Amino acid sequence: MMTLLRERVACSLAERLDQAPHPVARSADAGCPGSRGAARAKMAVDGLDLWYGDYHALRDVSLEFPEHQVTALIGPSGCGKSTLLKSLNRMNDLVEGCRLEGTVSLDGHDAYRSVSVADLRRRVGMVFQQPNPFPMSIYDNVAFGPRTHGVRRRDELDEVVERSLRAAAIWDELKDRLKKNALGLSGGQQQRLCIARALAVRPEVLLMDESTSALDPLSTAKIEELVGELRRDYTVIMVTHNMLQALRVSDRTAFFLGGEVVEAGPTDGLFTSPVDPRTADYVAGRFG
Ligand SMILES: Nc1ncnc2c1ncn2[C@@H]1O[C@H](COP(=O)(O)OP(=O)(O)O)[C@@H](O)[C@H]1O
Ligand SMILES: [Mg+2]
Repeated sequence: MMTLLRERVACSLAERLDQAPHPVARSADAGCPGSRGAARAKMAVDGLDLWYGDYHALRDVSLEFPEHQVTALIGPSGCGKSTLLKSLNRMNDLVEGCRLEGTVSLDGHDAYRSVSVADLRRRVGMVFQQPNPFPMSIYDNVAFGPRTHGVRRRDELDEVVERSLRAAAIWDELKDRLKKNALGLSGGQQQRLCIARALAVRPEVLLMDESTSALDPLSTAKIEELVGELRRDYTVIMVTHNMLQALRVSDRTAFFLGGEVVEAGPTDGLFTSPVDPRTADYVAGRFG
């Protein structure tokens, strides 16, 4: 039922945007636990303001990210999507002159005051736009995080590497060449390896910042399908400039403009009956 609605919306959106629609794959409709109804917030931001020096990049942002759901952040370039994503695992701590007010919480605990940065980054993993495997073997890429956290036993590492590559839907492709350099893989394989590397330390939340925008359509489709599966075990928050992607894979969507959240809610509703005229214009492809 929901799938049909999404397919219709996706087709009409694709027509308006002059793009080819992909099939809408949604495991949530197959009864994924927690993907419907009132799930508890795994992460939340409340009254978040962020400045880069004098530049006010996020304005009074309040959002909840329900557990075991995929939340998409959409909006035109420069509206603060990456900034919000980075504030969730304190990547902005590294940016000089960056300052924030308001709260970010993980399981109800203040991510800036009650959780250590190291713990936060382990629990909230990130995958970037460009695949960035380390210049080492496929195995060592995935084992990197666990080794950093003190795992030394070979059998334990073998288990983590296999589990993570399986979870990233790339074990079958790579299992016979684990000792090969990761830089020899295709872009799409590299990105799934990076997802495996992020999963290896058993995070609870996965942040993805336009993680398919550098990939071909087939690799993009594989990662979208993977995201649909990842929500069973993780909470996923993804930035995408591709509205069809948000529609295909997310449970909830937040639309940003000029550092503010204009509208947020279940993805179907936001695309089919947006409340704010700016959201309506954006999802209709009239700007951005
Ligand atoms: N490190 C930084 N220093 C100064 N300004 C920044 C920095 N990072 C981002 N910005 C600015 O903040 C705004 C939001 O950026 P960003 O979050 O990257 O947007 P989006 O991901 O939506 O394209 C933009 O105007 C950008 O130029
Ligand atoms: Mg960005």
